[in-house]
Amino acid sequence: MESQINKLKQEKNAVVLAHYYAPDEAQKIADYVGDSFYLAKIAKQTTADIIVFCGVYFMGESAKILNPDKKVLMPDLTADCPMAHMVKDSRIEELKALYDDLCVVCYINSTAELKCKSDVCVTSSNAVDIVNSLDSNNIFFIPDKNLGSFVSEQLPHKNIILNDGCCPIHAALTAQQVLAQKAKHKNALVLTHPECEKEVLELSDFIGSTLDILKFATNSEHDEFIICTEKGILYELATRNPNKKFYFPEPNPCCADMKLNTLENILSVLEKEDKEVNVSDEVREKALVPLNRMLELGK
Ligand code: 13P
Ligand code: SF4
Repeated sequence: MESQINKLKQEKNAVVLAHYYAPDEAQKIADYVGDSFYLAKIAKQTTADIIVFCGVYFMGESAKILNPDKKVLMPDLTADCPMAHMVKDSRIEELKALYDDLCVVCYINSTAELKCKSDVCVTSSNAVDIVNSLDSNNIFFIPDKNLGSFVSEQLPHKNIILNDGCCPIHAALTAQQVLAQKAKHKNALVLTHPECEKEVLELSDFIGSTLDILKFATNSEHDEFIICTEKGILYELATRNPNKKFYFPEPNPCCADMKLNTLENILSVLEKEDKEVNVSDEVREKALVPLNRMLELGK
């Protein structure tokens, strides 16, 4: 199946992008593997005619917004991030009426409609720096309360208003699960994604995006790590660090939506070009503004 995929990629000038949470087989076949920020930058730069995005819907949608003239396909269009929908429009309006300088900061894990109502997008790898660079003092951080609270702790001079949304996968990871791993692996460092709850962040030696976790583990002199994020990251962690050991909380955090990016689905979508991401011109034009602002500020 891999050779059929590679042949079609060449014939059709297609490129495959995969997030670190995609199945191992998708990461292996992909031309680019990365965190949300890296993949958004690649999606903007690519000269391919077709982008096959092995991630969840908001990622494919962002790629389409950045590349309206390219065909953006997803191996399974139902792969969705539940957190992407967790904001009430009425709350945004309420806060805009309350604060003249309100800046709506939108984690990229959100629908295009939410991006349209936002001033700037961020990802977990640039959220602190971008929020810090904003002139506004009053920030509404959507949709993730855990990333928002992490940013707020780093930037106490800003009034960061949190929204009641979170990633169900990261929020299910408990301090008890981490403590159980720490008891078994006493020398291991705890590396955590900021979508986890505060009680888990407090047990951590390092907090960062998927790419930041990978870089930290690879550059560290330690050789054992407890990884508090989705288990798909193990493929790249182990590839880059064959002599290091990685443990995950139990049960292992698993994003079922990301796992829909199977080789069968990648091959099928390359053959049929049928699962295309489409965004209306009106939504695209509005959502492009906060996305481009992120790419500018994140340089
Ligand atoms: P990253 O930005 O760290 O890749 O995270 C994306 C994501 O979906 C985390 O759950
Ligand atoms: Fe969304 Fe969580 Fe899955 Fe990331 S791991 S895509 S935030 S549900």
